[in-house]
Amino acid sequence: MISTALTYKVNLETSSSFDIDLIEKLYKNGEVDKNRIILHNGYKTDDYISKIIKLQKKGFRNSIIILDSKKELSRILELAGGEKLYIGIRMAIDEEPQSAYYTSRLGIRHSEIIDFYNAEIKENPNVSLKMLHFFVDSGIKDSLYYWGEFQKALKLYVELKKLCPSLDSLNLGGGFPIRNHLAFDYDYEYIIKEIVNNIKEICSAEKVDEPHIFTEFGKYTVGESGAIIFKVIEQKQQNDNELWYIINNSLMNTIPDAWSIHEKFILLPINKWDNEYAKVSIGGISCDHSDYYNSEDFNQQILLPRVKDNETEPLYLGFFHTGAYQDSISGYGGIKHCLIPSPKHVIIDRDENGNYVDYVYRHEQTVGDMLNILGYEEE
Ligand SMILES: Cc1ncc(COP(=O)(O)O)c(C=O)c1O
Repeated sequence: MISTALTYKVNLETSSSFDIDLIEKLYKNGEVDKNRIILHNGYKTDDYISKIIKLQKKGFRNSIIILDSKKELSRILELAGGEKLYIGIRMAIDEEPQSAYYTSRLGIRHSEIIDFYNAEIKENPNVSLKMLHFFVDSGIKDSLYYWGEFQKALKLYVELKKLCPSLDSLNLGGGFPIRNHLAFDYDYEYIIKEIVNNIKEICSAEKVDEPHIFTEFGKYTVGESGAIIFKVIEQKQQNDNELWYIINNSLMNTIPDAWSIHEKFILLPINKWDNEYAKVSIGGISCDHSDYYNSEDFNQQILLPRVKDNETEPLYLGFFHTGAYQDSISGYGGIKHCLIPSPKHVIIDRDENGNYVDYVYRHEQTVGDMLNILGYEEE
């Protein structure tokens, strides 16, 4: 996915130390050049900072370190050893009213940013502030809450810009949604126009140059590229009302967001579309009672084809738009709950003539793979 995205001349964002190694690999493969803008987000451990500085010394001069906390600056300057750095500041957002906490731990408090700039950045010859970053984690939505946080960041940008001529970029972070059910309706064009118009209006009114606009749309970029297909291995009628479809893997292990944050994915039967439909719950084969999926978005029940007694072909179910986060959060290829293996991973792509090609990227995880991680030697 990164290779494909890079052909569209995207810039890159990193979140932790190992991401820098990944960029070095891409450079060695000739997929990125040293002029790409590389944003460094996330908590800056010493190892992460050292690798960023090393990357800059190799000639990646358009690298911008986004400060996640005020304390990061002195640690970065110490490890940079006098190199001039481009930096950004992440503004911490206030969460939605129903959240478990009020202000995000990510970033620097909104009310402290101007004082921090004046005290530690303005007169510092080793740093140049380029970017203001904010990220509304619950997503870019046409809601009072989103526009409130957006306006707060925009006003802060203008205020900072008046003090800091080098500031020229506003980063909206991630959070652009993707379709998670068939009735999903989101006016992408309207939202983008509103964002751009608002930025333009406030900048003209305040007579400051319009910023370069950066986004870090993760799910929007990769989410629709993935799907997981399960085989129904048993239909189990547990009472008059409740029919379970037991599938050949674990939902917790393969689409962990469905279990942990109640995320929904598009769910469709792959075959038997003409059969009679029934209300079902889908259950995984782990021992965990919470390894199930039984509602669509807005608590809609799940309706799937019934398999008739005389049918030998099994029913297959597909969860679609699972391309963001599911493999990484579940630790694809690692230790799995109940030692249920990571499923076979198939890539479907197009060749240079536009024809579909598919190949097995990884076979189903083997017992050797897993026992090896657990410390058992292969015989
Ligand atoms: C700093 C930052 N930018 C971008 C993203 C991508 O967010 P999304 O997938 O919601 O677009 C994340 C995800 O956590 C993030 O932490």
